[in-house]
Formats: sequence, C-alpha cells, structure tokens
Amino acid sequence: MSEQSPVKITVTENGWYQVEGTTEIIASDGSLIREGDKFFLCRCGHSNVKPFCDNTHKTCGFVDDGLGKKPKKD
Ligand code: FES
Repeated sequence: MSEQSPVKITVTENGWYQVEGTTEIIASDGSLIREGDKFFLCRCGHSNVKPFCDNTHKTCGFVDDGLGKKPKKD
C-alpha cells in the first residue's frame, strides 16, 4: 500500500485556490473533469473556464478578505 501526501490547498492573495497533490476534479454528474497533481481553481467567480482560474480575477477587480497569501503560480 502506497502512502500519499495529503492534498494542500493554498488561498492566494486576490486570486486562485492552488491545489497541490494527486487530485481528481469531479463534475456534479460524477464525471471526471481532470486529474493531476497541481490545479489553480477560480475563487473570484468570474473565470470563463470554471472551475479553473483563467486569470480573469486580475481584470474583474477581485479583492479577497485578506486570507490569501502571495501567489506562486508556475
Ligand atoms: S480566481 Fe482567477 S479567474 Fe477567478
């Protein structure tokens, strides 16, 4: 039995949720949207490719509540 690291979700400053660790993104109908080890999920609600971030948060004026950390997007 292999041991996996826990998934880590980082709230970025005025931006996306950064998800690190083996993850499956599942649609409401149960179908697989994507699987992988790193995702950037929309937090502002304005992305055109939800649930993923498309950087619209930079132009829509999204400002978070101060919970976010400085972003580290590769
Ligand atoms: S957080 Fe980036 S588009 Fe919403």
